[in-house]
Amino acid sequence: VTIAAVHVRSWQAAYRGLLPQAYLDGMDPHEHEGRWRDILDATSWPTTGVLVAVPDSSAGSGSEAVVGFAFFGPSRDGDSDTATVAELYTLYLDPDVWRRRMGTLLLQAVHDQVRRAGFTTATAWVLDTNTAARSFYEHHAWHFDGATTPHDWGDFVVTDVRYRTALS
Ligand SMILES: CC(C)(COP(=O)(O)OP(=O)(O)OC[C@H]1O[C@@H](n2cnc3c(N)ncnc32)[C@H](O)[C@@H]1OP(=O)(O)O)[C@@H](O)C(=O)NCCC(=O)NCCS
Repeated sequence: VTIAAVHVRSWQAAYRGLLPQAYLDGMDPHEHEGRWRDILDATSWPTTGVLVAVPDSSAGSGSEAVVGFAFFGPSRDGDSDTATVAELYTLYLDPDVWRRRMGTLLLQAVHDQVRRAGFTTATAWVLDTNTAARSFYEHHAWHFDGATTPHDWGDFVVTDVRYRTALS
């Protein structure tokens, strides 16, 4: 599957019961491909980039083997210093590999990369009802920092909460 397909599959599984089903059913990997091309074009190493997870068995066999990805860059939040605060914009794994440490490997790779790029803190916005992701971040020494924001998806509004970790 391609990155866009992983994105849609992960979304549909992670947000079932948390976001309106009609919205999840309507997600189209083809639309996401265009958005992914824009993201890849925006890559500005070492401060903005995408890391992908590829199983050992399929290393070298091309983008079809991607089972997860993380997109990071400087914080987009008005209250944060873009030179020191990195943001993990998206972190998604294919549901077939959940709970098999791929997320841990990706998050560690993000930590290493943003630290190398000179950031001292990392943040991420998480849907408040996404208890799996919240547990995952807490397991990796991230914490809810008290910031919340309404997230307007057009047809519905949800609440996102911000997680944070110090990169020592
Ligand atoms: C969240 C996500 C990235 C975690 O990756 P993963 O590879 O499944 O997680 P790992 O196997 O590395 O888990 C490490 C630890 O995190 C915690 N954790 C992970 N998934 C969890 C879950 N569903 N429920 C509770 N705790 C969880 C556990 O403490 C786990 O350790 P354990 O398995 O020994 O109990 C992945 O499940 C995913 O892509 N989910 C859907 C998309 C999403 O919500 N992304 C985050 C958006 S901000």
